Amino acid sequence: MNIAVIGTGYVGLVTGVSLAEVGHHVTCVDVDNDKISSLRKGNITIWEPGLEELLQKNITHGKLFFTTAHAIACENAQIIIIAVGTPENEDGSANLRYVEQAIIDIANTITHRVTIVVKSTVPVGTAHRMCTILQENLQHGVSVELVSNPEFLREGSAIEDAFRGDRIVIGADTLSAFDVMEEVYRPFRIPIYKTDVRSAEMIKYASNAFLATKISFINEIAAICEQVGANVDLVAAGMGMDKRIGDKFLKAGIGFGGSCFPKDTKALIQMARNVGYDFEILNRVVEVNERQKVLLVEKLLERFGSLEGKQIAVLGLSFKPNTNDIREAASITITERLIRHGAKVIGYDPIAIEYAKNRLNEQMTYAKDLEAAVSGCDAALILTEWDEIKEVDVRVYHVMKTPIVLDGRNCYPPEIMAQHHIEYHSIGRPSAGGQYIQPLL
Ligand code: UDX
Repeated sequence: MNIAVIGTGYVGLVTGVSLAEVGHHVTCVDVDNDKISSLRKGNITIWEPGLEELLQKNITHGKLFFTTAHAIACENAQIIIIAVGTPENEDGSANLRYVEQAIIDIANTITHRVTIVVKSTVPVGTAHRMCTILQENLQHGVSVELVSNPEFLREGSAIEDAFRGDRIVIGADTLSAFDVMEEVYRPFRIPIYKTDVRSAEMIKYASNAFLATKISFINEIAAICEQVGANVDLVAAGMGMDKRIGDKFLKAGIGFGGSCFPKDTKALIQMARNVGYDFEILNRVVEVNERQKVLLVEKLLERFGSLEGKQIAVLGLSFKPNTNDIREAASITITERLIRHGAKVIGYDPIAIEYAKNRLNEQMTYAKDLEAAVSGCDAALILTEWDEIKEVDVRVYHVMKTPIVLDGRNCYPPEIMAQHHIEYHSIGRPSAGGQYIQPLL
């Protein structure tokens, strides 16, 4: 099929590449000239395992094209996928200006029947509202169908998810729209869940909010575990054996970040508020996450009294491993606070340093590797569970001024740290090898 994808951000690019890979003829369009010329050469600016290889392969095989002209992308398209961003407004709601612009651009361009697919995460009712805008702006005699098709890709495993996801959700009003979408996705051999447009839009928000709730829930359990002397990792493993609970998304830590969970939870709260409903559980999920982000700084203050003049290593800057994305990462809040408390902060990340430099406090310095980062430090904070950090020989921490590690991602068994005489504080587990920190509730 001929498919146009509007927006070459994370979702648009992965979608375009994977659709080309299964045999469709795909043209991706973006207003950003530099991005398009770099993509044409097969270069991506985001770090996503496997994406660049598939991009280059499909360009070479003549199945994937990039342009800045909507008219070119949409000319022969049977399907137009909207995958532009929906950033957060000040009140937490989703900003739809890029989606609306895409709809207007499509209306001004198409002269034939197409199926328009909204992949951007949009509040319930948006697709139908866009349909009205579209009808008003369409040229005489052209008919369109609008479909909601939310995405569930995780950064760092987006290619894996695109080809082996749990489900593809299609929300449509007509049988013909379902038929077209089945043709698009049949090669992926992933179960397709068909529903109405509004329910499809809600599935995306409800799924992300539920996963975020699991994370904040286990983080609350972690706080109590610290008080009562239990180990949250062992608790989560025991809970996860119950299939009704499931063992995923029960990893206690310093909260969720990234481009989706923080934004989508707030947008759902706002959506509920707009219809007069107070989504109390989700309010608390967001509050717990804010507390969780600064927990390590609180523990550090408890341990040292003052951070004035202390040298602190921050290990892991991205919001999770296998990505260079630091949007809404705990590293932003934590480094800011450490510097405000008078600490000297040295950051290290296997791949995110270049991206972090423009976004984190300019007083930060960066180290070329983990050992250089911790060398001479008063304490090290682990913010991202990169394999490189998890698998390091923990004796590396002996190059610190005092081997004190505060681990926000529970990377090491406390007993190993104790064996190596490293003072170790993690999340929801007993401290080891040194001074006890009064749990904070
Ligand atoms: C998420 C959803 O998983 C995906 O389906 C959706 O389309 C986009 O949002 P992503 O933001 O890439 O994907 O990352 P994810 O792996 O879900 O992790 C989100 C955050 O939660 C990370 O900061 C991670 O560290 C944190 N997390 C995740 C935990 O703290 N504990 C867990 O058990 C799982």
